[in-house]
Amino acid sequence: MKKIVANFKMNKTPSEVKQYLMTLVPRFDKAENIDLCLCLPYTSLSEAKYLLKGYPVKLGAQNLSECEAGGNTGEISGAMLKDVGVDSVIIGHSERRSRFKENSKIINKKIKIALKNRLNVILCVGESLAEKNTLKTLDTLREQIEEALKGLYENELESITIAYEPIWAIGTGKNATPREIEYAVKVIRKVVEDDFSTKASKEICVLYGGSVTNKNVASIIKAKGVDGALIGGASLDANMFLNILSLI
Ligand code: 13P
Repeated sequence: MKKIVANFKMNKTPSEVKQYLMTLVPRFDKAENIDLCLCLPYTSLSEAKYLLKGYPVKLGAQNLSECEAGGNTGEISGAMLKDVGVDSVIIGHSERRSRFKENSKIINKKIKIALKNRLNVILCVGESLAEKNTLKTLDTLREQIEEALKGLYENELESITIAYEPIWAIGTGKNATPREIEYAVKVIRKVVEDDFSTKASKEICVLYGGSVTNKNVASIIKAKGVDGALIGGASLDANMFLNILSLI
């Protein structure tokens, strides 16, 4: 079964999300071969919980606080997400790393707090264009994964999905080729093998994200070692997204 995650980013008001879900959800008929999760803005989670009731579509969030509760004005806790019906949360997206200065220490804390609240994690990793051009993809991926998963027990990896999202491919229309994806996924699994076990490296779910569209999804999803895709822009139009889902 392939896993497809939509990341809406900071798009769509609650009314727009409602409209979107009413279009997409009743027409999603690939539940037997797609594990689908929609990572919506915080403001839509509550209503989406009711709209998705009885449908095989999981609810996801795009971030959470690394703190428990209390004096953290404007933040959203793991417990809040769990209570509103969230299944999975994206952590370490490159937009949060670069624009909101989330370093590896914060990402590691966020993962631990998510797990403590029984939330699944979609950990994003990926190299910049400069790192790619100087052949540093391997080092970057290794460092990002090792720092993020520091202190975790092997059995906790069941709740972790790693999304390979090269920064240069996000929102640029330039997707990584299946060969580049296969290389990165191999590196990711090797790091998991070195730090945990061969079993863990085989079992961990690895996705690709970065300019996935209806034109390239079929070949990306077929790349060796790839368990699914994390889709941004192309998930925002319900009909386009249904088309993508139909190609898997
Ligand atoms: P795009 O699909 O718009 O390139 O975004 C990818 C992404 O960042 C998903 O998290």
